[in-house]
Amino acid sequence: MTSPGARDIRLHPSLEKLSRAAAEELANIAQAAVEARHRFTLALSGGQTPRLLYQLLARDYRALIPWHKTEIFWGDERYVSPDHPHSNYRMAKEAMLDHIPIPRHHLHPMPTLLPLLEEAAEAYEETLMSHFPGQWPRFDLILLGMGPDGHIASLFPHNIVLEEEARVVAAVRDDRATPPLRLTLTLPAINHAANVHFLIAGANKASALHRALAPNANHKASPAAAIKPIDGHLIWWLDQPAATLP
Ligand code: 6PG
Repeated sequence: MTSPGARDIRLHPSLEKLSRAAAEELANIAQAAVEARHRFTLALSGGQTPRLLYQLLARDYRALIPWHKTEIFWGDERYVSPDHPHSNYRMAKEAMLDHIPIPRHHLHPMPTLLPLLEEAAEAYEETLMSHFPGQWPRFDLILLGMGPDGHIASLFPHNIVLEEEARVVAAVRDDRATPPLRLTLTLPAINHAANVHFLIAGANKASALHRALAPNANHKASPAAAIKPIDGHLIWWLDQPAATLP
């Protein structure tokens, strides 16, 4: 256990070992959630880092997850069709969703086929409100990655979305992103989760991670520094290259 106020950093020599340790912790959280509340609500991260974790959850750790009681959401999505190569849903589908016994109606991808981005953000917010009581969804676990520029989910440095305090889901436009149109959970939505796990691997993340973990980190430049769960636990799953400044 980490002492109060200390960061919970879990450092591993490789992405493989990081992913296995994160899978074990995810299974523990899932089992505890189902035991306590008869369901496990999980928000997936996009990008490539979590692919191995998703594959492990569908394979080596499959039997440890109560899939029939699991509800899967997304922390962010690129505004492309679900079968697009850039779709976070497609990556998760190929790595995990097609290989686990989860009821299909327990999958809640972000609606990227609606004509207007803002409409889609509002629609997903309604989806979340229908699955969670109260103003803020309290996910049992949100998985997040970090880009080399320090973005998390689709919360990009200095983007106006970082100032959002009332919405749960926001539409994002950022020409630095590929693709530039996105949907994302907002910072307050993430900070209402019971557990938030960063999975950060690779030397190309070292500088952004260092900035995010620095004392008095600039939240606009390093959105990860704004992740402080109000009544939840944050774990930084890191591999050695990401934790090693050049
Ligand atoms: C996205 C992701 C994003 C991702 C980082 C890291 O939709 O792009 O949610 O926040 O976690 O870009 O991506 P990699 O894991 O591919 O480095």
